[in-house]
Amino acid sequence: MDRRDFLKTCTAVAAASLASPSFFSSLVEAQEGKFKVYKKALLVDKNGNPIKPEDIDPRKQYIFFYPHRATPCLLTNLGKEVPPAKVKLSDGTSYNWQGGVGPKKSIVAYSAICSHQFSHPTPEFSFINYYPENIPSKIVKRGGVIQCCAHLSVFDPAQGAKVIDGPAPFPLTAIVLSYEDGKLYALGTLGKELFEDFFDMFKPDLRKLYRSTRKAKKLVDRCEVIEVEEYAKEVIRC
Ligand code: FES
Repeated sequence: MDRRDFLKTCTAVAAASLASPSFFSSLVEAQEGKFKVYKKALLVDKNGNPIKPEDIDPRKQYIFFYPHRATPCLLTNLGKEVPPAKVKLSDGTSYNWQGGVGPKKSIVAYSAICSHQFSHPTPEFSFINYYPENIPSKIVKRGGVIQCCAHLSVFDPAQGAKVIDGPAPFPLTAIVLSYEDGKLYALGTLGKELFEDFFDMFKPDLRKLYRSTRKAKKLVDRCEVIEVEEYAKEVIRC
């Protein structure tokens, strides 16, 4: 599946109110079961207006919560066109990651739940972060990576978040984005999901933050995008 096919798929998903169960099964089969459709959610800024791609600064990192109210994602502008990539997993399966979206095809998003031991941004700390070119990772000595300082896993956001260093066993889950009429939407996920394990592992913390597990798991149709530095009191870099 090339970029055009992938985007056709996303457009079809966006119009999914007409979709039949067999339509969805064929999508899933096309991605070896790695593509999961959730609610279509508009990405908005702090004022509730659709976020503009030009407002996503390549020197910064942003967070939003999708597909559940409590599952954090990183949004980044890699500053250049990012082509689609085939992502291979150690079990021999693979999937086609869409590449960047937006007018410059430079915007990507991934779940911010580390595939190693589930480290993720909280209002107190963020151990997993995007390192722009001006803040290079000390591990791989370059920027343009996502790195988790809990145990030093490094992911390449320009390659479907494949693992480039450290103990993480597989890539971060990709968030499937679409760009329609100047607006950015999240449509679903691609790759191995960790959400159920995440909810089990952090049940007490999530209850405190969201008042109940049911509220934490609620699926969203609108996502506020803010800078990680505004969300977490301490951003840990290494
Ligand atoms: S939890 Fe991220 S590297 Fe271990």
